[in-house]
Amino acid sequence: MIFEQNALFKKTVADNQNQINELFALYIHWPYCLSKCPYCDFASSVCKSPDESALLTGYLRDLDIYRAQFGRPLTSIFFGGGTPSIMSAAFLKRLMNEIKGRFSFSNSIEITMEANPDAIDADKMKAFKDCGINRLSIGVQSLRQNDLQFLGRRHSVQTALQRIKKAGEIFSRVNMDLIYARPGQTAIEWETELKEALDLGLSHYSLYQLTLEEGTPFYKQGIETPSEETARDLYILTDEIMKKADVPSYEVSNYAKAGQESIHNLTYWLGKDYLGIGPAAHGRIGLTATSSPTSVHEWIQNGPFIETLTSNERFEEKVLMGLRLTRTPFPIKGLSKQGLNRALELKWIEGLSDGIIPTLEGTLMLNELILMLLPNGL
Ligand SMILES: C[S@@+](CC[C@H](N)C(=O)[O-])C[C@H]1O[C@@H](n2cnc3c(N)ncnc32)[C@H](O)[C@@H]1O
Ligand code: SF4
Repeated sequence: MIFEQNALFKKTVADNQNQINELFALYIHWPYCLSKCPYCDFASSVCKSPDESALLTGYLRDLDIYRAQFGRPLTSIFFGGGTPSIMSAAFLKRLMNEIKGRFSFSNSIEITMEANPDAIDADKMKAFKDCGINRLSIGVQSLRQNDLQFLGRRHSVQTALQRIKKAGEIFSRVNMDLIYARPGQTAIEWETELKEALDLGLSHYSLYQLTLEEGTPFYKQGIETPSEETARDLYILTDEIMKKADVPSYEVSNYAKAGQESIHNLTYWLGKDYLGIGPAAHGRIGLTATSSPTSVHEWIQNGPFIETLTSNERFEEKVLMGLRLTRTPFPIKGLSKQGLNRALELKWIEGLSDGIIPTLEGTLMLNELILMLLPNGL
């Protein structure tokens, strides 16, 4: 998929309707981490020596269910978690072979692995690449040692930088995750840190504002995040810096050089079909929704739950996901006419020949915008 830069129509990645229609993704959830970060509510628990053979049994069972019902060529695979880079290369090789035995791969398939700086080294990167991984996403979170400590990270800035450098030598596509809008972080501090991250020359950056997720240690401690106004200013500053560096946003928190957007995540945001295997994974194939228990034991025992959504339910999901895209027009069919007019008046959306795109202001007001545009609210 080629990103076509066209300022007038803001055409994006996903210009080519045939390519969009072909998107079909596979998500694989790895449920373990070496330690639990105090801000994180992703489905993961601490385990240093996972039972890979039990996991394999569960993954293969899920693959077999989905292959029988929904087999089509895969355009992307994403190993997410948790910390999937903990898995052994031998396990990855076996799993990839099992997937290949059940699904065909599109020629340009994107295969991403999420990695923590302290749970991957150069040898493992090479071994993962040999198994087919062609995109690495590294969770760095901060380039400041104090903040890494505050965030409960196990790695140092130096380790993270070493791993990014190595990853750049081994993989042609590397993403780094950073968390900003941290307690007390000033605009100038973030600007300096972000520019250092940009100096690393990666093709993709996921930049998340710190959120306090219910039930996490940070939530319980009542950690103070920046005010709404400061968070807004930091978001606008981020948008400007990334645009100037030619790594503009294409989704609320995702920024990429031309043509380097994550095909896998675009599949979700464009409302296309995806399979999800592993505990806590979910999938969408047409109106079929699949979801698995978060507990590894329950998932292995019971497998995924499969249900059928109404077309209204799926449409609402597509609106929620599709309006996160900042460069891809969302078709107006089915949206509230009154809401569209109001959003245009407020300059929260831009109207294009093939749909609407939220403006920066619209993205900042995304929840309100979505409520306005859904035919019956949410
Ligand atoms: C599923 S996590 C996996 C990444 C990997 N395990 C790691 O920590 O390096 C994906 C990303 O979500 C982001 N994230 C998780 N919890 C967050 C929170 N409460 N606020 C902001 N970003 C968060 C982090 O940037 C993290 O890298
Ligand atoms: S941020 Fe990553 S390493 Fe930390 S607990 Fe969450 S998934 Fe695990």
